[in-house]
Amino acid sequence: MSKEEKYQELVANVKAIIEGETDMIAIMSNIAAEIHQTMKFWWTGFYRVKDGELILGPFQGPIACMHIAYGRGVCGTAWKKEKTIIVPDVEQFPGHIACSSQSRSEIVVPVFDKDSKVIAVLDIDSEHLSTFDETDQKYLEEICQAIQ
Ligand code: SME
Repeated sequence: MSKEEKYQELVANVKAIIEGETDMIAIMSNIAAEIHQTMKFWWTGFYRVKDGELILGPFQGPIACMHIAYGRGVCGTAWKKEKTIIVPDVEQFPGHIACSSQSRSEIVVPVFDKDSKVIAVLDIDSEHLSTFDETDQKYLEEICQAIQ
């Protein structure tokens, strides 16, 4: 199965799983699990905006840092810029926060509420370089748009 086909199936599954659910933690937990299991990433999870910073939310993978300030690291930068950030090599990203030395590349996608306010970010790490491209961006953004 191509990456595109895997993502098409993943997006359909995610939408079916969260259909009718309103609890954000339940939604984020199952989305993290479904993405992680299907795509076999190193770390998949959410950071939620709370009291002016990002706090670790539902995730799959090794333990991670729990607080990230606005504008810091890849996650805080994606929040500030309100845009998806793809990092092909984490060592080349100034201010990257290394939660695990195994992580080599990363994608962070903002999650917006109905008023276009960032309420969380979806963060995915890979233990390989240059894992993420526009295909990942397109489908992960579609998944994040389904959370509202
Ligand atoms: N690398 C992220 C921190 C979170 S961990 O990757 C799970 C960053 O620079 O924001």
